Amino acid sequence: MARTLTTRITNNVYIIGAFAAIAGIMFGFDIGSNSGVIGTHQYRTYFNNPDDLLQGGINGALSAGCFVGALFAGFPADKYSRKFTLIGASVLFVIGSVFQAAANGVPLLCVGRVLNGLSVGVTSMVVPLYQSEIAPKEIRGRIVAVQQWSITWGIMISFWIQYGSQFLTGESYTAAFRIPWAIQAVPALVLLSGMWAFPHSPRWLADKGRMDEAIQVLADIHGDGDVNHERVQLEIQEIEVVIKFDREQASHRYADILKPQYAYRASLGVFLQIWQQLTGMNIIMFYVVLLFEQAGVGDSQEATLVSAGVNYVVNVVMTVPAILWVDKWGRRNTMIFGALMMSLFLWIVGGLMSQGEWYIAEDTGKWQMRMDNHAKANGMVACVYLFVASFACTWGPLGWIYPAEIFPLRIRAIAVSLSTSANWLFNWVLNFVVPLLMQRIRFGLYMLFAGFNFLMAVHVFLAYPETKGFTLEEMDIVFEQNPRKKVDRAFVEAELARRAGYEHRHETASNEKTEDIV
Ligand code: BGC
Repeated sequence: MARTLTTRITNNVYIIGAFAAIAGIMFGFDIGSNSGVIGTHQYRTYFNNPDDLLQGGINGALSAGCFVGALFAGFPADKYSRKFTLIGASVLFVIGSVFQAAANGVPLLCVGRVLNGLSVGVTSMVVPLYQSEIAPKEIRGRIVAVQQWSITWGIMISFWIQYGSQFLTGESYTAAFRIPWAIQAVPALVLLSGMWAFPHSPRWLADKGRMDEAIQVLADIHGDGDVNHERVQLEIQEIEVVIKFDREQASHRYADILKPQYAYRASLGVFLQIWQQLTGMNIIMFYVVLLFEQAGVGDSQEATLVSAGVNYVVNVVMTVPAILWVDKWGRRNTMIFGALMMSLFLWIVGGLMSQGEWYIAEDTGKWQMRMDNHAKANGMVACVYLFVASFACTWGPLGWIYPAEIFPLRIRAIAVSLSTSANWLFNWVLNFVVPLLMQRIRFGLYMLFAGFNFLMAVHVFLAYPETKGFTLEEMDIVFEQNPRKKVDRAFVEAELARRAGYEHRHETASNEKTEDIV
């Protein structure tokens, strides 16, 4: 009885997806782990007031690590499995967090941040891959959206932990940053100890020629343990057809990504992730405290921090609609609508800021803004919240859902690696560019990003086909269709069957040939 219950738990698609998504909390902790700490006097005292350049380097160490981790994660994910790669990445994260929490100076802190970055780079690529290979097509978007939800939880929790820790002063004042950095290791330890109990990706098993195990996993997770379940049989057939087709058509496993049709698709994945960064979400995630301070939101430092912290709560809450409905809304509509909304709200934020009073602060020599008009300041805060809400239920989850579902199995891991690393590359670049632009073009920064959002809506409209409700095996056919037309489901199914037939004829033909030779 107990065994049955355990088996049921470890074979429930929702539980598998949610458990792997614990890595999202690590991702979120990492993103949030510095923003609240670096402003505290405890941090500044202990690390000798790092100047802008050094602080930029400390911040950037993380996204640089993420970039490298994501770029190379495709290889272990293919060779050693999605599951073991995730476990390996959690070990790295625990070590990185220990280094950070124990840091006796900037060098050790940076080593810790690079290690954590490498780990998050790997998991941010492997989790959506694993989830999408495990989920049935009808709820694939939802399962992957759970990873985004965990990211938002991680960011929120880390913000509030830092908020609480800033009050730790006195002799053990270093606890103000050591505690937030040490707590990061907790989700990694949970993932590390629990992931063993969950199954391998059935698609990975099939690709490795371990078909019997793949069938068993599919039966366990989609057919209540019954290998003859109709859905399981159908999936097995589809996977077999695609693997055979791949083996015969493919020249080289990875080099295929350079073939025009796949290179184009890879560019869609890469662009989608770059666009996700160019939504401007991280300007808000990292600089909202500064922004609200400038606008005079809240009459004390604490009140400003609390108003800023609300953003992180909005982010968590507004990811829920995506979990519930992204598989109904579809990918295209959600992305186009989200980008247009974000464009609008950023435009208003920029417009309102342009009406503030701008001056160069004497102590820092930097541009500052004062907004004495309360109505305008409140309008700006409302638009920032609405912007975050729009991101949370659209591009936040879609940035991870879409790239993980559009590639054929043999290049999936490597192509998802490429697109995820593009996300981190831009995250890293924005680290440096945003503070500069804040000084150079001031409120124009928000208008620039409003423009990016508009462009991404146009790009999605022109180039991205709808993928909801199709199996991963059907995607090749989906991508051969006109992206602006609704892809005909019956046609896709018939075409997959035709290819299976093609396989059959092809096999017969090659058998005949072999007989001839013999
Ligand atoms: C993005 C992060 C962002 C986070 C905010 C993620 O999907 O990749 O850059 O900070 O969402 O929720």
